[in-house]
Amino acid sequence: MSILEFKNPYPSLPPTKVSLLHTSKLDATALANIGFFSTVDRESTHILLTDSNVAASMLDELKDMFNNLRIKIHPVIVVPGESSKTIQAYTHVLDACADVGITKESTVIGIGGGVVKDLSGFLASTFLRGLNLVLMPTTVLAQVDAAIDWRHSLNLPHGKNLIGSILAPAEILINAGFLKSLNDRWIRDGLAESIKIALCQSPDFLTLLSQANPSDFTWLCRVIDISVSEKIVAMNRDSAPDQAMLVYGHAIGHAIEHLAEGELGHGEAISIGMCVTAELSLLAGLSDELTLKAHYNAFTAFGLPTIVPDKYDLHQIWSVIRADKRFRGDKMCAPAVKTIGTLVADGNGKCFLPFGAEIVIRALELNKSRGKTIGKFVQN
Ligand SMILES: NC(=O)c1ccc[n+]([C@@H]2O[C@H](COP(=O)([O-])OP(=O)(O)OC[C@H]3O[C@@H](n4cnc5c(N)ncnc54)[C@H](O)[C@@H]3O)[C@@H](O)[C@H]2O)c1
Ligand SMILES: [Zn+2]
Repeated sequence: MSILEFKNPYPSLPPTKVSLLHTSKLDATALANIGFFSTVDRESTHILLTDSNVAASMLDELKDMFNNLRIKIHPVIVVPGESSKTIQAYTHVLDACADVGITKESTVIGIGGGVVKDLSGFLASTFLRGLNLVLMPTTVLAQVDAAIDWRHSLNLPHGKNLIGSILAPAEILINAGFLKSLNDRWIRDGLAESIKIALCQSPDFLTLLSQANPSDFTWLCRVIDISVSEKIVAMNRDSAPDQAMLVYGHAIGHAIEHLAEGELGHGEAISIGMCVTAELSLLAGLSDELTLKAHYNAFTAFGLPTIVPDKYDLHQIWSVIRADKRFRGDKMCAPAVKTIGTLVADGNGKCFLPFGAEIVIRALELNKSRGKTIGKFVQN
């Protein structure tokens, strides 16, 4: 087991401990080694927040483990998917917590994908003005990205992640064994965030990813470990390129994810978002065709989508992009990749660059027309 740490956004508060423990079976002894569970209050009831898919595959086992550790838990189970990142779902969970008599000594233990992580984080940072938060991510996406964070967001009908709070988790347990029940689509979906890190910061990591075999458990563990440590380095350094890397392709990707209403996963939507952003970068004279091709190649190799689906009107996509929290005046502010491993920075070292409606819509059009010849384009 390796243990890493990332800094608390409030410097006087302790850092978050991240344990990487890739066992196929998680038993109570392994859990007891997670520092937090050896000190957690045995008198209070703790909230185990999860969704019904995760509950079906591991809740009984988890209940036994907590029972063996004499930790009292109250499971709160939400429906899978983005509909659990809403104010309505949050209110439902608040009611469930208030009904069981949660105290300041209670912990929210979020066990699930990125949706459960965001809801658990938002709950822990607001209920009783703040509870401890422990995360056990169960999707690739949550293990390599969503859980390694102190930002927790809910959606509004206007767009994604428009409400949020900040709370550093006390502890995060990354166990690739939790992915055993996850289907191939979601494994690939989560790798989009690893590809994001590689495109922005590490050509070597992109090479490792290109030797892909998502069904090889050892390869997957290695990709998770590298992604987690790269994200932790980025969180601790917190430089302009680090902040930009975290949301590369997301301004456009979030708009597509929002319009898809559950038909596309987060990783799938940002794969398209990154490809469109690479078109944008080339159009604006900020990068070259080799870099563009590397984008389409990387996502295609994992069977991830790269082309904006025909049914979305490009002007409609632009109108959702306008809800992005970094939108300024009439411009989308987003990072662009210059060459693989390097982001574009302006004269002041800033990596969020302004792009207007005309050029973004042109990039969306180019991406759509690329769809007809994508096979040829990635091979040449
Ligand atoms: N910094 C951050 O906080 C951050 C970063 C990236 C993404 N996100 C958010 O994360 C969300 C996407 O996360 P996600 O892709 O994990 O989606 P998700 O949480 O919806 O999980 C995907 C699907 O997998 C199922 N599932 C989860 N674990 C499983 C398991 N072990 N076995 C079987 N099924 C399982 C879920 O029920 C769901 O149907 C988005 O809302 C995105 O905005 C947040
Ligand atoms: Zn993301």
